Amino acid sequence: MPSQDSVRRIGADAGGALPGPLRRFVDQLDELRSANVLDMDQVGRLLVELAADEEFFAPLIAQIPSAAPGARWLVRPERGPRLVLVHRPDGVMGYTHSHRCWVGIAPVHGVETHQRWDAVRHQDGRADLRLADERALHHGDVATLVPPRDVHNHGHVAGTGPSPYSLILLGDDMLLFDREEYDPERGTWQALAPGDPGRADR
Ligand SMILES: [Fe+2]
Repeated sequence: MPSQDSVRRIGADAGGALPGPLRRFVDQLDELRSANVLDMDQVGRLLVELAADEEFFAPLIAQIPSAAPGARWLVRPERGPRLVLVHRPDGVMGYTHSHRCWVGIAPVHGVETHQRWDAVRHQDGRADLRLADERALHHGDVATLVPPRDVHNHGHVAGTGPSPYSLILLGDDMLLFDREEYDPERGTWQALAPGDPGRADR
């Protein structure tokens, strides 16, 4: 079990002092990334393997209260792949957004409902949004996205099971990019400038 100190360190760490499970994950991911084309199925498998390490994640989950949204960075270099543990409480769904980088999502605990959208933007702010995929992700499941088909939202839907604690793996720092946020109910979109994380939860 990591001490408070080691937990605090991994929150800000870019490499050297990563705990064993994260070090192994980063090394294996680097190996996959050395291929000409990144195999997202293999990335997804790697993420599911990491999410299965209940002994490693139990103390980290215990530090994120279930009643409120919370997140803890696990791997956060300046550029390139980064990993964060994200929790959304009962009935809370995130806003719909694009990434402009590849993404993987795998629950460690609870049920994460994931929706991917096909989005066509119009200059006047309207957007045609079609739900392309909807899945209730449980422990052992993974969803991956690759731009430009990277418009999604995820979070908890009441009645599906316990609220989720999920690993989110991002191919790069999405806040460096011009992105978009969507409202599927109103059929609208708005631009997110670099640095704008967008609205957190619906
Ligand atoms: Fe996302």
